[in-house]
Amino acid sequence: MASALRTSVRRLATSATRAAVAESSVNPYGIRVSKAQGVVDTLVGAIGNTPLIRLKKLSDETGCNVLGKAEFQNPGGSVKDRAALYVVKDAEERGLLKPGGTVVEGTAGNTGIGLAHVCRAKGYNLVIYMPNTQSQGKIDLLRLLGAEVYPVPAVAWENPENYNWQAKRHAERVSKEDPEHGAVWTNQFDNVANRRAHIETTGPEIWAQTGGKLDAFTCATGTGGTLAGVTRFLKDVSNGSVKSFLADPPGSVLHSYIQSGGKLKERSGGSITEGIGQGRVTDNLKEEVNELDGSVNISDEKTIEMVYRCLDEEGLYLGASSAMNVVAAKEVAEILGPNHTVVTMLCDGAYRYADRLFSEKWLKSKNLRDSIPTHLEKYIVLP
Ligand SMILES: Cc1ncc(COP(=O)(O)O)c(C=O)c1O
Repeated sequence: MASALRTSVRRLATSATRAAVAESSVNPYGIRVSKAQGVVDTLVGAIGNTPLIRLKKLSDETGCNVLGKAEFQNPGGSVKDRAALYVVKDAEERGLLKPGGTVVEGTAGNTGIGLAHVCRAKGYNLVIYMPNTQSQGKIDLLRLLGAEVYPVPAVAWENPENYNWQAKRHAERVSKEDPEHGAVWTNQFDNVANRRAHIETTGPEIWAQTGGKLDAFTCATGTGGTLAGVTRFLKDVSNGSVKSFLADPPGSVLHSYIQSGGKLKERSGGSITEGIGQGRVTDNLKEEVNELDGSVNISDEKTIEMVYRCLDEEGLYLGASSAMNVVAAKEVAEILGPNHTVVTMLCDGAYRYADRLFSEKWLKSKNLRDSIPTHLEKYIVLP
């Protein structure tokens, strides 16, 4: 980024910090009320501005401030609402989408849910392509949120029948048939409007919420939008002093890529986590991958234990990718040593995964039953 732009990012961030302080007032009961909690224009205005929660037990254990960004508080229940809003806004700005137009995406998860909310709020049609290996629950949820859903055979990325390419062709077809309203394939993996959501919102929020006093950021990647966008903003605003670490699950190639300085793309095993892990460097991640200060590889055993620990120690009901991020934040805190502040993302809640994460049978099927410490076994409430 050019230095002039960097300076303006710094200036903007300083004023964002001031604004965050100025924009909050104390109510008659001594409780701080922020303008971010005021009246917002439609559901879209309720995306972002999530709290940063201090994880007490892990902070005590490491002597650091371990902070988690409560993304499960977004209207669609996950961090992906931010990307959904930005890819739609980007299509509007480029004139590809007009009122009544159609958004098409290939997704099996949170992005689809985020898009469904955003499209309803903005009056667009939503078409989702997904591999037919996904649960009926996911299909039903997207349909009840108003989306048209096409489960298609699960084939590799290189195959023209892969769900992403089918989504692309569908958008091309509709935009030819209905040029008046338009259609767009939002392409979350390689559309850098996704990363921009985190440069313009998540990064500045973290900087303002910590008053610029943070030492490191870490999170896992699916599309890479969150890690790349937050890293870009924090590096620019802090003159490179905030460190950024990738958190990677088994089965993803990115840990080996970063550890080998971009030479290797080794994949080993698989993971119970959903929405994260990558086989390639996406366009969203490409520009920032060399800015990272390192990576930590987190096993499913550590992740599942942290799902249960967060519930027991912090009252946080988190999905596996969030729990993995918390393990990564703890490991980064241990690398940095006491008296540092480390921020991570609490991407979504456990609601959509409860039938697996808290099931005796499922834990055994994944060889993870022994990872739950005895004092946490009471949370395995499903057979
Ligand atoms: C639960 C969950 N966590 C993390 C991520 C990763 O976020 P990103 O796509 O910004 O890398 C996703 C993405 O879909 C997700 O669904």
